[in-house]
Amino acid sequence: MPIILTGFMGVGKTTVGRTLAEDLAVPFVDMDTYIEEQEGKSISDIFAEGGESLFRQIELGVLKKLLQNPELENAVISTGGGVVETAECRQLLKDQDQVFYMQDVFETSWRRISRHNPAKAQRPLVKVNTRKDMLAKYNRRIPLYLESATHTLDVQQSNAYQTAKTIQRYL
Ligand code: S3P
Repeated sequence: MPIILTGFMGVGKTTVGRTLAEDLAVPFVDMDTYIEEQEGKSISDIFAEGGESLFRQIELGVLKKLLQNPELENAVISTGGGVVETAECRQLLKDQDQVFYMQDVFETSWRRISRHNPAKAQRPLVKVNTRKDMLAKYNRRIPLYLESATHTLDVQQSNAYQTAKTIQRYL
């Protein structure tokens, strides 16, 4: 089964995923990038055209597809931070045996996701929500990440390289 990384926006899932996949010499899939390639448009454009609900539908379809792909049996998959919003996605994650929830304090995520970015690179949810809204989202999602993960990693004091090494100890 693949190694799956979950956690809030800006926690470092993509960087850790890429590092880990390189270490293990296995394929790496970043779900947001996969969605953009499949749809031929940016995440922001998907949100602009069909709202969060369209994005969640696409995200569920992609998660199903990736988990069924035999070529990704040993891959590392980094998910989008909101994958746990969808009950069906949570169920798919619960059926997996290597789901690592990367946990950090809200402040670190917020610092990363709120810094000035070109409009296209900015996460759509950050554009339309205040810091307070994002903190509420962070808190509301904690139990959802916990229930769908097999391992919870406190990554507060670790860089991507160290986190990738920690994950390897659990494999
Ligand atoms: C989202 C997180 C994003 C992306 C989309 C929605 C979320 O992924 O999937 O903007 O709801 O938390 P990252 O966690 O990679 O930023």
